[in-house]
Amino acid sequence: MISRRSLLAGASAMAALPLVPRRTLATGIASETLEAALATVQIAPEGYPQTEIWSYGGSVPGTEIRARQGDRLRRKLVNSLPEPTSLHWHGIRIDNAMDGVPGVTQEAVPPGGEFLYEFDLPDAGTYWYHSHNQSYEQVARGLQGALIVEEAEAPDVDRDEVLVLDDFRLDPETGQIAGFGNMRDFSHGGRIGNIAVTNGIFNKALTVKQNERLRLRLLNTANAKIFQLQLQGLEGWIVALDGMPLEVPQPIPETLLLAPAQRADLIVDVTAEAGSEAHLIRLEREEGVSQILFSVTGKTAESRRGVPAPLPPNSDMVVGGLDDALLSTLRMEGGAMRGFQAARMDGREVGFREAAQNMNFWAMNGVVGMPGEPLLTAERGQTVRVTLQNDTMFPHGMHLHGHHFREVLPDGSLGPLRDTLLMFGDEAREIAFVAHNPGDWVFHCHMLTHAAAGMMTRIKVLA
Ligand code: C2O
Ligand code: CU
Repeated sequence: MISRRSLLAGASAMAALPLVPRRTLATGIASETLEAALATVQIAPEGYPQTEIWSYGGSVPGTEIRARQGDRLRRKLVNSLPEPTSLHWHGIRIDNAMDGVPGVTQEAVPPGGEFLYEFDLPDAGTYWYHSHNQSYEQVARGLQGALIVEEAEAPDVDRDEVLVLDDFRLDPETGQIAGFGNMRDFSHGGRIGNIAVTNGIFNKALTVKQNERLRLRLLNTANAKIFQLQLQGLEGWIVALDGMPLEVPQPIPETLLLAPAQRADLIVDVTAEAGSEAHLIRLEREEGVSQILFSVTGKTAESRRGVPAPLPPNSDMVVGGLDDALLSTLRMEGGAMRGFQAARMDGREVGFREAAQNMNFWAMNGVVGMPGEPLLTAERGQTVRVTLQNDTMFPHGMHLHGHHFREVLPDGSLGPLRDTLLMFGDEAREIAFVAHNPGDWVFHCHMLTHAAAGMMTRIKVLA
C-alpha cells in the first residue's frame, strides 16, 4: 500500500497549488455541431503559461456527449483547424460509413469543411470520440472527448463521475504542446507526457461523503501512457470494461491497468472517514502519486451498501462458435532494439534502416502500415479468432473498430468484452469475436505514434 508520505513526495509541490478552474465551453455553437478549433486553456499549474490546444468545443477533453441507449446521434463536424481532420467514435458498434477513418471510410475533412455524422447507439456504456487523422498529433493536441451512453435504468449510485485521464507534453518555458518530431516516441514506448491530468487539469479534486456510492467512469485518452491505478479510501467493483458490462461485478484489483483508449467503469464506496482524504492513485516508477483527490466531508450513511447489481447487458454480444471459427494470426515486430529483418512498405521490400528513415518502425505480418489486402475477410456473422503475437519488446494496446472481442484465455475460457487489448512485450494472446458488422474496420495499436509508424491493419466483414 502507498504510504501517505510517498504519496505526498510523489505528488510534488505542484499538487499543493490551488485548483485550476475548468474552462467553460465555447458558446454560440448549435448543439448539433461539433466544431474542431483552436482554443487556449490552463493545463499547467497556475503561474505557468496557458496552452493552445485543438479542441471540440473549446476545452480538453472536448464537449461531453451524453445520449441514451438506442438513441440516434447526430453531430456535424465543422473543421476550423488549419489541417484536415475526422471524427472516430471509439467503441461504438457503428455504421461503417460513420467510423471516421480517412482513406478507409471517408476522406479527411479539409479546413473549412464539414461532415455530418449520424448513427445509432446500440450499446450503453462509456465511450469516447477523437480525431482519426494524424491522430498521434491531433489527439495529443486535444481532439478528444467522452461519449456517455446511458442505460435505460441508471444503476443505484449517488453520483456518476466521468474522469478522463490523459497526459500532455508541455514545454515548461512556453506552456505549449511540444515535441512531435521525436523519433524515440515512434520507435520506443510511444509519446509520454510530462504532466498527467484528469479532465484537463493536473490536480482534479472532488468532495465526497463517507459511504457515498460513486460510479467512476475512467477513460484513458493518452497517446501511450498506461495508467497503473490504485484506490485509497475507496472500495468497490469493476462493473464494465471498454463500455461493456461485466456479467458479475468484479472486485477491483490492487493495481488496475488502463491502456490508452481503454475504459473501466467502477462502482466504489467512500470508505475513508469523514474529515480525511481518499485518492485515485497512479503509480509512477512504483511510487504512488495522487491523480484525483477526494476530500471526505461528512457522512451519507452509517454503513456501506451491499454488492451492486450488474449493469444490464448490451444485446447481441454472445461470442460462440469458436470451434468453427475463421483463424488468423497477427504478428507484430519492430521497434527499437529489435527492428525487423525485412518488411513490405509502399509495395516493396525494405530493411529496418530504410523504414526508420521514413519514421516507420513497426510491421504487422511483414507489412509496414496499411496492407493492400485485409488481414482477413469474414462472412457476416462468422466467428473469428485472431492470435496476436507481440515479437517486440514494447507493450501495445490493440484496438479493433466496430466490434468488441473476448480474449480466449489459455484454459479455453473467454475474458470480458473489450475493444482494446493491452499486450506486453513477447506476449502471445488470442481474441475471438463475431464479425457482425459489415465494412472495412481498422485494427491498430492505440499507442498513436506506433499506429503512425506502421502498426495499422484492417479486416473486412462482407455484407
Ligand atoms: Cu480510438 Cu482507431 O481508434
Ligand atoms: Cu504499439
